[in-house]
Amino acid sequence: MKEPFEKLLSGKTFQILSDLVYQHSRIRLGSDKQSLMANRLRKRLSILNLESYEDYCCVLHSPHGSDEVEEMVDLISTNHTRFYREPEHFSFLTQQALPALVQPLRAACTPLRLWSAAASSGEEPYTMAIAVADFLRSHPGLEWEIVATDISRRMLTVAREGIYSMDSVKSVPLEHLKCYFKKGIGVRTGVCRVKPELRKHLRFERVNLFQPHLPVPANQHVIFCRNVMIYFDLPSRALAVQRLAQLLAPGGYLMVGHSESLMGINHGLHPVQQGVFQKT
Ligand SMILES: C[S@@+](CC[C@H](N)C(=O)[O-])C[C@H]1O[C@@H](n2cnc3c(N)ncnc32)[C@H](O)[C@@H]1O
Repeated sequence: MKEPFEKLLSGKTFQILSDLVYQHSRIRLGSDKQSLMANRLRKRLSILNLESYEDYCCVLHSPHGSDEVEEMVDLISTNHTRFYREPEHFSFLTQQALPALVQPLRAACTPLRLWSAAASSGEEPYTMAIAVADFLRSHPGLEWEIVATDISRRMLTVAREGIYSMDSVKSVPLEHLKCYFKKGIGVRTGVCRVKPELRKHLRFERVNLFQPHLPVPANQHVIFCRNVMIYFDLPSRALAVQRLAQLLAPGGYLMVGHSESLMGINHGLHPVQQGVFQKT
């Protein structure tokens, strides 16, 4: 249905809005994203009872504008994800990273720490959790925790709940589905929830990778930061990778998306295989 008035996003206003998005999140929106931005913000304008994108700019620049900038970034960011996305990383985790990490950690009575740094709606950190829990069934006696962070509060709310449609868990192997998810019944038919025994190992927190201090414990053994750096320019990618590398324990691993290149970035990590880097 057509709205009572057509809200038009001019090129100039798009530039102002996309600069604000960049300053807040380093997400770079090219001019080809003008209609995407207009579409994603239109509903927000209606909620705020605003007549134009120019009025929205005034709100963003007002004294309480920073909360609204956060809201705008949340609406603009692309949150697409799925269970077992880029499955080679999870095979690497169970077949190479965990076998190498677990014995020395157990000997030193140190917990295993993993971080999903762009966790979106939770599919990635829960897949990591399944891999770790499954591995530790045959190597018990190690404490472990996954910190799952994202800039989007909206996505973190979904992630914390851990409720997914049966369709979205199609890629989860059946034995893991049975072991780590509870199928909904009655009014909850068609969805399933990650079991509390697994959820208790995850901590969800809103973190912008560029905020002044990253509130994530140092000495992470595995960091997944996948399919977010494609939205950053090279200097921002470099900064993000350097910050992540600093928080890695020696011998720890950084996983990036298959289409994300760390070429031209001075990160000091050793490439292990596609999208996997190790701190030596
Ligand atoms: C496409 S999803 C990737 C999800 C998951 N890592 C995967 O590979 O399936 C990208 C996520 O990055 C988040 N994001 C974008 N900019 C960010 C920033 N500056 N700091 C933290 N998270 C950010 C978005 O909110 C979004 O949920």
